[in-house]
Amino acid sequence: MRKIFVAGNWKMNKTIAEAVDLVSKMLPELENFDDVDVAVAPSYLAVPAVAELCKGKALKVGAQNLFWEESGAYTGEVAPQMVAEVCDFVIVGHSERRTYFGETDETVNKRLKAALAAGLDVIVCVGETLEENEAGQTEAVVTRQISKGLAGITEDQAAHITIAYEPIWAIGTGRTATPEDANNVHKNVIRPLLKQQFGDQRANAMRIQYGGSIKPNNAAELFAMSDIDGGLVGGASLTADSFVSIIKGASLVTIVEETSKE
Ligand code: PGA
Repeated sequence: MRKIFVAGNWKMNKTIAEAVDLVSKMLPELENFDDVDVAVAPSYLAVPAVAELCKGKALKVGAQNLFWEESGAYTGEVAPQMVAEVCDFVIVGHSERRTYFGETDETVNKRLKAALAAGLDVIVCVGETLEENEAGQTEAVVTRQISKGLAGITEDQAAHITIAYEPIWAIGTGRTATPEDANNVHKNVIRPLLKQQFGDQRANAMRIQYGGSIKPNNAAELFAMSDIDGGLVGGASLTADSFVSIIKGASLVTIVEETSKE
């Protein structure tokens, strides 16, 4: 039985005080949803305060990026061990990192390996631009991002990896991929690539999140699809109400599936 994984990516939003306030509102609401894995990724400075609040709670805390070197003269960067001191997981390869900060498939791969070596779970983001989508290149782009981004990763390491498929044209635009289109990429492009590299059993157990304008009113239909195992939520994770509604939707999907299996 898959357990849906909903992660909130707060991006460059929320001061420390605002982050603490938001998580304090979310935590009591999340107590009833132990059938869904839930996580948030605040901006770096707010991470320790949020992690402190989440100690012993069912809300995992992550960072939005890290650097691959262990230490040294890398002004402005944060090392994997530093992230692992405080976080459960890290996001790598987000399209905003690729677009604005020069992230490439090769640097995604370096960050991924360094994060895994530090004992972190990792969400690896992939997804095509609108131009690529319209040119029918989705499969080629996602295939390149997965095969280069996950190059050299072993089956054991794959147990710590979640893939987030985020079509760039859907991020922050209010334009969501249809559940069928997103599921098609998950099921017919990403999952087969994972099977090729890690074998059927491991690949079937790996979670592939969808991301891009997930909202309370579209989350449940996305999560109900066979190969959409959760979501990476940006804007709608910035208020407790909308994030909790999305998690409620995920919880209902799980219950429906369990019931239909009996
Ligand atoms: P969005 O962001 O939900 O605001 O579209 C998703 C993401 O970038 O992870």
